[in-house]
Amino acid sequence: MCGIVGYVGDKKAISKIMTGLRSLEYRGYDSAGIAYIKDGIVKIIKREGPIDNLDKKLNYDEVTNIGISHTRWSTHGVANDINSHPHRQGKITIVHNGIIENYESLKKNLTSLGYIFKSNTDTEVASALIDNLYKETGDMLLAINKASGMLEGSYAFNIINDDYPDTVFGTRKDSPLIVGVGQNENILASDIPAILHITNKYVVLNNYDVVVMKKDKLTFYNKDNEEVQKDIREFLDSPEVISKNGYEHYMLKEINEQAEIVKKLLKLYTEGNKVTLSFDLKKYKTIDIVACGSASFAGQLGKFYIEKFLDIPTSVTFASEYRYQKNFFDKDKLVILISQSGETADTLAVLKLAKENNVDTLAIVNRKDSSIAREADNVIYTEAGIEISVATTKAYLAQVIVLLLLAIRENENESKILDDLKILPNLITKEINDYDYELLAKLFYKKENVFYLGRGVDYFLAMEGSLKLKEISYIHSEAFAAGELKHGSISLVDENFGIIAVVTDKNIGNKTISNLKEVSARNAKILTITNIKDETFSDYKIEIDDISDILNPLLAIVPMQLIAYNIAKLKKCNIDKPRNLAKSVTVE
Ligand code: F6R
Repeated sequence: MCGIVGYVGDKKAISKIMTGLRSLEYRGYDSAGIAYIKDGIVKIIKREGPIDNLDKKLNYDEVTNIGISHTRWSTHGVANDINSHPHRQGKITIVHNGIIENYESLKKNLTSLGYIFKSNTDTEVASALIDNLYKETGDMLLAINKASGMLEGSYAFNIINDDYPDTVFGTRKDSPLIVGVGQNENILASDIPAILHITNKYVVLNNYDVVVMKKDKLTFYNKDNEEVQKDIREFLDSPEVISKNGYEHYMLKEINEQAEIVKKLLKLYTEGNKVTLSFDLKKYKTIDIVACGSASFAGQLGKFYIEKFLDIPTSVTFASEYRYQKNFFDKDKLVILISQSGETADTLAVLKLAKENNVDTLAIVNRKDSSIAREADNVIYTEAGIEISVATTKAYLAQVIVLLLLAIRENENESKILDDLKILPNLITKEINDYDYELLAKLFYKKENVFYLGRGVDYFLAMEGSLKLKEISYIHSEAFAAGELKHGSISLVDENFGIIAVVTDKNIGNKTISNLKEVSARNAKILTITNIKDETFSDYKIEIDDISDILNPLLAIVPMQLIAYNIAKLKKCNIDKPRNLAKSVTVE
């Protein structure tokens, strides 16, 4: 949610900053802005809309060697030029990722001190607060640390102060911030893609760390104003990982990467025909899986596998609900947090809650060095590589595979299932190539409503398929447990309705088929993704291979992704950056 980039270095700062900022557009794209210092004067340019709108207003020949920038996903105040970042009060200019929860009371105090606010944002309040504390202390480090003590909520800040024209200051709490360590230039950003045009070396800031970043010097402090040393890490993948690699969209590229990711996970987490992950779920009597969105739907498949192979009662709850509901914590419980970004605010809050209650935690996370990865007792990485498309595909599949591996570890069927898993990559590639998904998408792209139906594990898949469709194509869609439809919602179904059914579980497939006949009798057109051959219950079919009840669900995922992708493409939607969304949800 929001991307920030600060830079100090050579005189082409605007270009360096904008290259970084563009790579963070997946984090928010409703407005963007930049502040840079030219001849001792801070210049601020900001525009509503995507980064392109800002770009048109910039003069790349302007000579400046320092600046901060922002791409926004609005929280406080609509997306317009005034609410866009950077914000400035007194000598302080700031960009912010996160939410200041107590900004209203702070604003009142600061207003009484004479500050006048132009925007509706919480960020402008933070700039006034730091300015006021700087006036009081005459020291930026003290001002930042005092401000941190007063701000409630989450933040990653890049700050410039008129009195320090060669320095960008940074600090964070519960929103990510890394420092790219260059040669005679340094860069301070929300995420790794934004630094790779300068360096692959970086330092991860922890909560309340402060960095004082100059062109040739980086100094780090803790919240007690003491200087601290930080490790420099290296990002070892090639910068290629953040390019589209010839694909029209990141989403399509990421869908196509899935076969390789399955191979990679098998290589990393199995040997011979054994799972090598050491984490043992069997130690626990109950498991709570907690996540948001697609990660929670991956969790539903995890529940299916864990209960099937380990007989451990497992619940799956959205993190935004779990953190405020009554929970029954005890020493025999494990809380599994699933997150691609590792920064999702609600999931992170549940991790903290579980730890406060002394419950063991396991994080299944894609992004290394992320907050959830660092704070959980145990971490397993999903190793899907950087995912840029806002709609997740490869990270979701990788989450499911990791959960499956954990569930089958030391099971009597482990060897057979791993054998089957080895053929999954080829089958994924085959199903990507076998169907004309565009043709199938043409049947649905004009629909206003689509139901995704399934039972049992197929219902869990339907949840993911439905989310994929609605988030990128803006077609209203809901997932239903097929048997539940007739208890009310079937009244919506008519000939204009689209139905996409998933039938991979042969044990209850016949029941789903009966439900499909019921919607068919209401003249709705049905597309079914199934391994049942010679079926006659749907109007259109994607026939997937039939490996086993355990792995067939995994084969239904890719066609669902490609249907959503092709529908969104026909509708000319902004596939990689759907409206109102952002990749990393660092607010509650
Ligand atoms: C949907 C999607 C989201 C995320 C959710 C959790 O395509 O990507 O539903 O799954 O926001 O994000 P992470 O996994 O980063 O915690």
